[in-house]
Amino acid sequence: MTFLDETIALPVGVTLDRFIKRNQDAFPFATGELSQLLRDIAIAAKIVNREINKAGLVDVTGAIGTSNVQGEMQQKLDMIAHIRFMRALRNGGEVAGIVSEEEENIVMTGNDDARYVVAIDPLDGSSNIDVNVSIGTIFSIYRRLSPVGTKVPLDDFLQGGDAQVAAGYVLYGSSTVLVYTTGHGVNGFTYESSLGEFFLSYPTIKIPEDGSIYSINDGNALDFPEPISDYLDTCRTRRYSSRYIGSLVGDFHRNLLKGGIYFYPPTAKTPNGKLRLLYECYPLAFIIEQAGGLATDGKQRLMEVKIKNLHQRSALCIGSTNMVKEVEKITLQKAEMLAAK
Ligand code: AHG
Ligand code: MN
Ligand code: MN
Repeated sequence: MTFLDETIALPVGVTLDRFIKRNQDAFPFATGELSQLLRDIAIAAKIVNREINKAGLVDVTGAIGTSNVQGEMQQKLDMIAHIRFMRALRNGGEVAGIVSEEEENIVMTGNDDARYVVAIDPLDGSSNIDVNVSIGTIFSIYRRLSPVGTKVPLDDFLQGGDAQVAAGYVLYGSSTVLVYTTGHGVNGFTYESSLGEFFLSYPTIKIPEDGSIYSINDGNALDFPEPISDYLDTCRTRRYSSRYIGSLVGDFHRNLLKGGIYFYPPTAKTPNGKLRLLYECYPLAFIIEQAGGLATDGKQRLMEVKIKNLHQRSALCIGSTNMVKEVEKITLQKAEMLAAK
C-alpha cells in the first residue's frame, strides 16, 4: 500500500457534504431530508462564522438594549446568529418549526410539509463575544409527531432527550469546528475558510473514561450542593486542573477531547440551574453519551429529565464516565447518610 492509498483509506479530510451523503447511503430508506437539514445548518454556521470574524471591525459587538425571554440582555451577534439560522432553515425547506433561545414562541417556518423541528441556541457564550473568546452554536433535531401538512404544536418540541434524531454544535474558536451525532457516534469537522468547506478532522470521537479537568463557575461556590463541593475538594487534592471559559460549547468541547467534567448546579440566582434543557443540555447529553460519556442533572440521567416548557432550565453535570459516576456515588452516600440520621 502506498502512502496515498493509506490517506485515501482514512476518513480524515472527507468533506462534510460527502460524509453526510455516505451516511445517508448506509440507510436504505433514508429520504435525504435530514441530510439536507444538516447541510443547511452547516451553511448557516459558515455565515455566522463570517459575521463573528468581523467583530471589532464592523458594528456587531455589544448589546442591543433588548432582553430575551429569560430576561438576559441580547447582544447584537445573538440576534444576527438567530436571524441567520432562522433564514437558512426556513429557506432549506426541511424544518417545520424552530425554537430558539432568542424567541419566546415557536418560529413557524411556513414549511408545514417538512418532517423535522429544530431547537437552537444560535449563539452560546454571549458574554465572550466582545472579548474575542470562543463562542458557539448548539442545535437539536426531532422528527415531528404531528401530522405533516399541519402547524407544529408545542408537543413536537417536548418529546424529551431520547427522541432527538440528531444534535450538534459549532465552536467558533481557534478554528471553527462542527461536531454532530445522528445516534451513530460523534464526528467533528474543521472549517477551511479559503475553500469554504468543513473537513472531517475528528472521526468517531470518544471521550476518555477519566480526566483531570473540572469546569465550574467558582464564583457560585457558596451555593454549590454539598456533594459537588466534596467532589471539587477531591479534584483539588488530586491536583486536577480547573478550566472554565464561560462558553458552554468551548468548555464542553475541550473536556470531550481531553477528558473532564463540567457542572452547572442550581445556585441561589438560578435555583433550577442556569442552562436550558431543550437547546443546551439535551443536545450535549446526546453527544456525550454517543462519545461514551455521561450526563446527569444531579439526580437522574439528563436525557430522561422531563420537559414541560420550551425554555425550561436544568442543572447539568456532564463529562467523562468515571468522573460523573464518582459525583453520583458521593451524592448517593450523602443522601444515605442524611436518611440514616
Ligand atoms: P448563552 O450565552 O447562550 O446565554 O449561554 C451562556 C451559558 C453558557 O454558555 C455558559 O457555560 C454559562 O452560561 C456561563 O454562565 P456563568 O457566567 O453564570 O458561569
Ligand atoms: Mn447558551
Ligand atoms: Mn445563546
